[in-house]
Amino acid sequence: MSEMTAPARPRVHIEHAVKSFDGRVVVDIADLILGAYPIEGLIGPNGAGKTTLMRMIMHSIKLDRGKVTFSAGEGSPEVALSSKPPHAIARLGVVKTNQVIQDFEALTIWDSLLLAASWASDERPHRIYREPGVWADYGDEIEEYLDLFPFDNPYGFAKSAGEKKLLDILRCLLLSPRLLLLDEPTAGLPAGIRDRVMDLIRRKATEENISVVIVEHDLNVIWSLSDYVHFMAEGSVLLQGDPPWIREHATVVEKYLGEGHVGR
Ligand SMILES: Nc1ncnc2c1ncn2[C@@H]1O[C@H](COP(=O)(O)OP(=O)(O)OP(=O)(O)O)[C@@H](O)[C@H]1O
Ligand SMILES: [Mg+2]
Repeated sequence: MSEMTAPARPRVHIEHAVKSFDGRVVVDIADLILGAYPIEGLIGPNGAGKTTLMRMIMHSIKLDRGKVTFSAGEGSPEVALSSKPPHAIARLGVVKTNQVIQDFEALTIWDSLLLAASWASDERPHRIYREPGVWADYGDEIEEYLDLFPFDNPYGFAKSAGEKKLLDILRCLLLSPRLLLLDEPTAGLPAGIRDRVMDLIRRKATEENISVVIVEHDLNVIWSLSDYVHFMAEGSVLLQGDPPWIREHATVVEKYLGEGHVGR
């Protein structure tokens, strides 16, 4: 009898990836897999290279060297991301918040969500408006989000920073991600909304087998949501492990959690 193996989750594999700015190396990753667990935290002090690493994965900045590959899971082949532009990477299912430039003044909240859904399903945007049947399919999911999150006026524009942030997250969810990179998704959101965002992310990761990687300085989010944590400092991932182990680790306390850094 052949051995049963659990299907691999959607994951990215980063190998020998280096990025420098003005001659200074800010990210240097020898070998890193993101996505082996449903929800992973990526933490570390300011300037550790967390955002840069996410941008390297999306190829919104060019790597000095190294490669990034993606597998959608369940026996899917590995695809090299480092040769593709960001929109092609998103099309494959690797999606990051703050990635797509949003014209918050030109698109209403509802239109912005609809556009994300149509993009994910390969509909040409003008068809959504001309043929109501086309968007009926996405309407339910959008209505669900709008019920969950009280936008001031969903048929108007996102105004507050919180609404823009939330809209960005919902748009990413509508893009049919396989691996979702969230860069400080709850920063600046009121506590009640933050909890709903966390619940929604947990539900998506569990029910739809989406791999989620979260960068956050609000460590309550990390400790309560993550199945696994990567600790990054000075451009490299120094430690990886269960949240309680990372939380107590002397290196993490010294470089990040201790006095003068964020609170525990
Ligand atoms: N476009 C850029 N040009 C020059 N230096 C940059 C650029 N982007 C990032 N850096 C530098 O690279 C280093 C890593 O920055 P990065 O934004 O990735 O850190 P981070 O871990 O996301 O920090 P934070 O927690 O504050 O968001 C920092 O020293 C930063 O100043
Ligand atoms: Mg950052």
